[in-house]
Amino acid sequence: MRNKITVVGAGFVGATTAHWLAERELGDIVLLDVPMTESMPKGKALDLMQAGPVLGYDTHITGTNDYADTKGSSIFVVTAGLARKPGMTREDLVSTNQKIVTDVASNIAATSPDAIVIVVTNPLDTMAYVAYKVLHEHGFDKNRVMGQAGVLDSARMRTFMAMEFKCSVENTHAFVLGGHGDEMVPLVRYSTVAGIPIPDLVKMGMTTQERVDAIVQRTRGGGAEIVNLLKTGSAYFAPGASVAEMVEAIIKDRKLIRPVATYLDGEYGLKDMFFGVPVVLGGAGVEKIIEVELNDAERSMMNKSAELVRGTMSVLK
Ligand code: LAC
Repeated sequence: MRNKITVVGAGFVGATTAHWLAERELGDIVLLDVPMTESMPKGKALDLMQAGPVLGYDTHITGTNDYADTKGSSIFVVTAGLARKPGMTREDLVSTNQKIVTDVASNIAATSPDAIVIVVTNPLDTMAYVAYKVLHEHGFDKNRVMGQAGVLDSARMRTFMAMEFKCSVENTHAFVLGGHGDEMVPLVRYSTVAGIPIPDLVKMGMTTQERVDAIVQRTRGGGAEIVNLLKTGSAYFAPGASVAEMVEAIIKDRKLIRPVATYLDGEYGLKDMFFGVPVVLGGAGVEKIIEVELNDAERSMMNKSAELVRGTMSVLK
C-alpha cells in the first residue's frame, strides 16, 4: 500500500510541490483545488503523470475538486490561499486566508483524521495556528500540525553562503528561526561552512562582518526579492522543494532536524503561537522541539519577530 499525500491548492506552489514529491516516489499524490478551478487540477496531475515515463517514476497523481478523493491521506500539504494583491491590506489577506484555511482544516479532519498537516499558506505562522485550532478540536495533537518556512528560509541563507564562500551548498548549514517575515532570525552563530561557524570565518579573514550582515539581510528579504523579480507572484520552486524535504522526513521517519513553524507552549518563552524553531521531524511529525541557547541579542531578535507574528494574529476573527 502506498502512502497518499494530498496537496491542497493546485497553483504554482502546489503543483511544484507535487512535482518534487512525484520524483521522490514518496506516495501517490492527490492535487486538490476548489470547484471554481474545474478540471485544472486534473490537467496538472495528468501532465505530471506523463513526466513519469521520461523521469522514471511510477507515482500516481490525480487531480480533483472533491475531498472524498483525499480520504485516508497520511500527509496534507496546504498551499491554498490568496497571495497579497495590489491594494489589499494585510488584514484583508489574513481574514480571507483564515476562511480558506479553516475550511481546508475542517475537510482534513473529516476525511483524514490520522493525517499530518503541513501548512504553507501565508502569513505562515498565523495560518498554521488557524489550521491547528480547527484540527485540535478534532483530536489532532500539536505534533501533527506544522508550518513550512524555516526549511525555505534556511535554504535561501545557504544559497547566499555558498555564493559568498564559493563552496558547495552541501558544505553549508544554516538555522533561520522565528516568524516567516522581515524579522525572521538567521542565527549566524549556528550557521556553518564545513562545520566552521560564520563568526570564525570572519576571524579567519574568509569574509567580513559587513558581508555577513548582507547575507542576513538578503535572507530576510528572500521572499520579497523573488516577488520583485517575478512581478506577478511569489516563489514556488524552493518552497515546493522545502515541503518535499519535510514530507520525506516524515514518511521515512528520518528524525531530520530542521527549523519548522510549530506550536509553542512555553518553549523559547513563547506560548500559544506558531513560530519557527528547530525540531526533530519524523514519522510522528514534530517529535521534539530543540531549545538552543540564545544570547541576549538573539533572544531580542526572537522576541521582535514574535511580536510581529502576534500583531498578525491579532487580526484573526
Ligand atoms: C516566500 C513566500 C512565498 O518566502 O512566503 O517566498
